[in-house]
Amino acid sequence: MTSTHVERQKIELSNYKAPDFKIPSIHLTCELDAQRTVITSEMTVYKTNKNSTHIKLNGVGLECLDCIIDGVSLSSTDYTYDGRILTIPISADSVSLKIVSACCPAENHALEGLYQSGTMLCTQNEPEGFRRITFFLDRPDVLSKFTTTLRGCKKTYPVMLSNGNPSNEKELEDNRHEITWTDPFPKPAYLYAIVAGALEFQQDTFVTKSGRSIDCRIYVEPHHLDRCDHAMESLKKSMTWDEDVYDLEYDLDIFMIVAVDNFNMGAMENKGLNIFNSTCVLAKPTTATDAEYQNIERIIAHEYFHNFTGNRVTCRDWFQLTLKEGLTVFRDQEFTADHHHRAIKRIQDARGLRQYQFAEDASGLAHPIQPSSYLEINNFYTSTIYDKGAEVIRMYQTIMGRTAFIEAVKDYLKTHDGEAATTDDFFNAMQRHTDVDLSQFKRWYHQAGTPVCNIESNYDETQQTLTLTIHQSCRPTPESPNKQPFMIPIQCGLINKNGKEIEFSENSIPSKNTVLISRDDVTKVTLTNVKETPIVSLGRDFSAPIHLHYDYSIEELMILMRHDSNQYNQSEALVQLYIRWIKEWGLSKKAPASDDWKELISHLKSMFTTATSDPDMSAQYLAIPGIAEILDACPSYDISTAWSAAMDLKRWLATSLYDELNATFETLQASNDTSSVSTLAMAQRRLKNGCLSYMTYVNQDAVKRAEKLLGQATTMTEEWAFYRSILNTPLSQPDSVIQSFFDKWKEDSLVMIKWFGSQSGSPYMELSKIKELAKHPNFDDKNANYIRALLGSFMGNIPLFYHNSGEGFEWICQEIMRVDSFNPIMAARLANGFKWYPRLTNNQQTLLTNYLNQLCPAEKRSNNLHEMIQNCISG
Ligand code: ARG
Ligand code: ZN
Repeated sequence: MTSTHVERQKIELSNYKAPDFKIPSIHLTCELDAQRTVITSEMTVYKTNKNSTHIKLNGVGLECLDCIIDGVSLSSTDYTYDGRILTIPISADSVSLKIVSACCPAENHALEGLYQSGTMLCTQNEPEGFRRITFFLDRPDVLSKFTTTLRGCKKTYPVMLSNGNPSNEKELEDNRHEITWTDPFPKPAYLYAIVAGALEFQQDTFVTKSGRSIDCRIYVEPHHLDRCDHAMESLKKSMTWDEDVYDLEYDLDIFMIVAVDNFNMGAMENKGLNIFNSTCVLAKPTTATDAEYQNIERIIAHEYFHNFTGNRVTCRDWFQLTLKEGLTVFRDQEFTADHHHRAIKRIQDARGLRQYQFAEDASGLAHPIQPSSYLEINNFYTSTIYDKGAEVIRMYQTIMGRTAFIEAVKDYLKTHDGEAATTDDFFNAMQRHTDVDLSQFKRWYHQAGTPVCNIESNYDETQQTLTLTIHQSCRPTPESPNKQPFMIPIQCGLINKNGKEIEFSENSIPSKNTVLISRDDVTKVTLTNVKETPIVSLGRDFSAPIHLHYDYSIEELMILMRHDSNQYNQSEALVQLYIRWIKEWGLSKKAPASDDWKELISHLKSMFTTATSDPDMSAQYLAIPGIAEILDACPSYDISTAWSAAMDLKRWLATSLYDELNATFETLQASNDTSSVSTLAMAQRRLKNGCLSYMTYVNQDAVKRAEKLLGQATTMTEEWAFYRSILNTPLSQPDSVIQSFFDKWKEDSLVMIKWFGSQSGSPYMELSKIKELAKHPNFDDKNANYIRALLGSFMGNIPLFYHNSGEGFEWICQEIMRVDSFNPIMAARLANGFKWYPRLTNNQQTLLTNYLNQLCPAEKRSNNLHEMIQNCISG
């Protein structure tokens, strides 16, 4: 008997109980078959709680075929299975338990557990997929040594993979074969994986610093074999980096990556067998853009780094998710910063956090990086857990200093190797390595919301002192209506009006850059020996995930933008100037009058003329405030207003800087080495293509230029940039360009995914045409990547999605409900877009609520979707 409808009951951290049983070893024998896979699981089971009389194993939607204790088969009345829990009596302190069960991969469209993607079989078990494969204690604090024997048809499944090292390949009758995989490292079931299919692989060898040779393989469908080079390079880079920085050497003899076409997430860190969404691993110059190359490198690194932060030391329960995710995001950020442009990486991460995580914190979805309860754990793979989690890790580093921080991480990994740890364990390791009292720092784990710091400064010329007064506050959120003050590191420095750094003393120690700590509602810090009137540069390198307010004059912001020794703060000063511009001139339909703005333009002009020295920074000048940044700064704006104001700024910049943008574009277009993927070559392309997108926004000739170049492009970076410059402007008629792009790429599903997203994301398309795309013969309406591209991009398309007709809401509600019927995780991910609800107009709110009630009625929603919609709308 199986049941899909469960009462909606919250899981609470405070109810955590250690398991009553442990299962030190498990051997799985899998008869692989897409229609019906039969699995025999042989476990050694020990009581850890002598009073327990029954073991309750998780198992969702399985068939239980046999249950055998110490060789004796139970009668079916001896145990019960309600579709979610299999309850078996256990009297002895230890038993060997054998269970035979069956599942159906071909009918599994939820993409958790064992499922079919194309002709291959694969798994996704984090967080709770394993229970859809076989019966087990599916919780991260149950660590077992897994052995797996895979049996399958030689023709359909010539390659059969699992975690660890392979042995005993043999032929069976009926054209079948088998292979056994042994993973020597105990691990929780969420890190278990199986892959089977007609795959080929690219192979390389990595020699570790102690001289061991690691067999590195990337498995793909044969037609993708020419898209593995970049992932392989990225993997070897990641292995080297973890050895160099954290002294961590890979621990198995083989490391495998598999590319899968239908996958809900980016990738998964299964021990020794990482499974990747094809879009996050496969690349060649003609089909993938620079941005995709960079994304692949980052995700490969992220999953590889999990081998220690996540796998060797795992999480005790899912409330600890940020323990592995925040830390691993932090590690991948540092990896990227070490290999590319550190300041740009920091700027982009901070801006991304403000756009997505701050929006989450400002909405009904607000939750701490360590929540205390959840309805559906899949909904907690959020920007808060991942990205704010990474900021919390970074703050430890900022407070303790990098050397002590790295030592503390090493200590944490040594102390808890082979264990399921908690955020407290991590915190304690940090505290062991610093004299700073961190106890207050813990509040970052339990209080949601983005703290606000209002800072005032007072310079006393005669005393040569600068007093900074920091007022902190944080809006109430459900889990902590009365916030206790956070421990907030604020990195700062001083510059004079000519842009020179000013030295000062803090506690009599001379310095040019310091980290102030705000611990109370009001914190006062006095810097001494300040010999001239300073301009304070605050929050350098985005030293804390907060809203930082200081009443700068426009002149001061201009000086910081030009001269701050901290590139992050240079860029931040410009963002603040843009926000001032938006407040003053956005929506006014007038050209700004005052001299301040002329000065800004003349500065930007000079930056573009000298653009070649740091093209990444110049490209960054074109990154106008995101919608969330505008909404934060302009409390009276609704989302559509924020978008219009942003477009006004874009138009003003494009018109005022047109000649410089054009000159920069043409120079770089002529000189860029399109075949190079060096950081510099990519930065030049980012700059030139950024210039072009501004130009086509306001000038018809630029559109023509882009059309001409599109025909000559030889790499996807170029092709995509030209194509999108034509799509994302009110000045073009892009139909024929869209058609030619389709004709050229229709056989290539990875490019087709982008093609769908490019249209639904363009504000200048007609809604009716976008809706038609859902019925397009090339649209795979069950595939997570196609769904994300078409629907996800549309929900970011402000003019169309939020259109006052309500038609965008209606379509999305219908589609989300369709997706929810087979893939609740994906439906809930899409519904995360409803978090902007508080910033809609009343009319928009009413329309959206009505369509949700009509088309996604509560009683028909999955738990995943229900929790997401509830939180977005009523929070
Ligand atoms: N652990 C994976 C990663 O961060 C992501 C798994 C996401 N799974 C999920 N059900 N949301 O690399
Ligand atoms: Zn991760």
